Amino acid sequence: MLRIGMLTSGGDCQALNAAMRGVVKGIFSAREDVEIYGFQDGYKGLIYSNFKMLTSRDFSGILTRGGTILGTSRQPFKMMRVPDENGLDKVEAMKHTYHKLSLDCLVILGGNGTHKTANMLREEGLNVITLPKTIDNDLWGTEMTFGFQSAVDVATDTIDRIHTTATSHSRVFIIEVMGHKVGHVTLHAGIAGGADIVLIPEIPYDIDVIADVIQGRSAAGKSFTILAVAEGAISKEDAKLSKKEYKEKLANRKYPSIVFELAEQVEKATGKEVRITVPGHTQRGGSPVPYDRVFSSRVGAKAAEMILNGEYGYMVGMKNGETVMVPLEEVAGKLKFVDPNCSLIKEARMMGISFGDKVGEEEEAVPVDAALPKAVKATEEVPAKEKGKKKEKKVKKAKKEKKEKDKK
Ligand code: F6P
Repeated sequence: MLRIGMLTSGGDCQALNAAMRGVVKGIFSAREDVEIYGFQDGYKGLIYSNFKMLTSRDFSGILTRGGTILGTSRQPFKMMRVPDENGLDKVEAMKHTYHKLSLDCLVILGGNGTHKTANMLREEGLNVITLPKTIDNDLWGTEMTFGFQSAVDVATDTIDRIHTTATSHSRVFIIEVMGHKVGHVTLHAGIAGGADIVLIPEIPYDIDVIADVIQGRSAAGKSFTILAVAEGAISKEDAKLSKKEYKEKLANRKYPSIVFELAEQVEKATGKEVRITVPGHTQRGGSPVPYDRVFSSRVGAKAAEMILNGEYGYMVGMKNGETVMVPLEEVAGKLKFVDPNCSLIKEARMMGISFGDKVGEEEEAVPVDAALPKAVKATEEVPAKEKGKKKEKKVKKAKKEKKEKDKK
């Protein structure tokens, strides 16, 4: 008997169901002696042993259905080692559920936070395979995550709709696109929707540049301007703050989000009327686009192959259009940012899209990591293992220096 546990964790997105369907179809095409345990609401279900036994029939007819048939929740990684209100050790509880049900493996669908916990469970000795879910497309080790293309589709549609009304009025329109830490969705939707200004966390903006672009368009006879702005867009002043200072600023901000602050600044600097649109969670809702259906089915089927071969401890990712197995320890704790020097950004600039920065001044090609603003970069975490390695190197160096000093 093959016993598989499955859970979806973190913010939902399109194609979660399609991915699970891919796993189950793949497994049942090779074996019949399979039991599927679906944990409810992500890691919560694993911690509190809340599951339902599913058959292959439960996965029929869900290819196009948004959301997740298992439910999901956010269970922050940093709280995993903190006992719950009744003193329950969550990690031990998850291991207990796994062993109690004699599971052969866990299939975990999730984004960044989910992968940190998945890797921890691997380190604790559980067999884990993960699938790359997030609209943000910010998972390390894979070119693509499912949900991304669908979210881009929704955000683009919003910009398209704004376009027709924008042309009728001499206004500035700001569309807030999801992505607190990275700007992949905003960048793609901004280009696809023909936004004039695209603001992403990886490229801090200068309000004077934004005002100049808007006035420049007016002077050229273009009465409206469209801005696609990521939730995590950051001004060049704020980008200089430490992570702590920036967090404090956000906590005390009088605006619900960055676009409201920006709207006020734009109105002041240009005297133009500004309107804000926040598509919010519509970007994660509805049916997956065909790309996501295909991609999620592929990673699901690949996971099935891995389970049948007993290959655990990996995320299924995509490299050069092929599904690949990426070791979990390489994925956990890292983010895939937009490289401010990538060709997509350069091409967008060539088409006249402004990123709200002064072009030419900071154009020196620098590695993506060095180019990231301080406050954004501070969110990129170094995996514990790498931290350990760095410490080890430091100790070795100090020992060597001491030896040399003693010799002298
Ligand atoms: O990580 C996916 C995501 O949709 C982000 O783009 C967004 O910033 C965040 O989740 C919203 O989270 P929540 O659904 O918890 O409000």
